[in-house]
Amino acid sequence: MSELVRLCRVDEVKEGEPVAAHVAGLPPFAVYDVEGTYYVTDNICTHGNAMLTDGYQDGGTIECPFHGGAFDIATGAATVFPCQIPLKTYSVEVDDGWIAIRLTAPEAAA
Ligand code: FES
Repeated sequence: MSELVRLCRVDEVKEGEPVAAHVAGLPPFAVYDVEGTYYVTDNICTHGNAMLTDGYQDGGTIECPFHGGAFDIATGAATVFPCQIPLKTYSVEVDDGWIAIRLTAPEAAA
């Protein structure tokens, strides 16, 4: 069982300008456009309490604004120290002009 959760409109997200999305009861999300493909990750850095949407997107990489660590947006892999724990990524769907994520049962119930 899964649930489709809309995060923001497609036209709000521009390449290099990730968008913070908040949904009650769920962690903060970051929505990205990488060469026309949309991706969603958790917005809080796994190294500290920084919002990645305050950082710097360089192509498929998001750099944290606090200590210069970075992640691969598509996979969530930590690519630059001091980030070492992967970032959670989500399955993205475009739903009638909205960017949405598909949550599975445990997340949907959280
Ligand atoms: S909080 Fe993100 S690199 Fe330290």
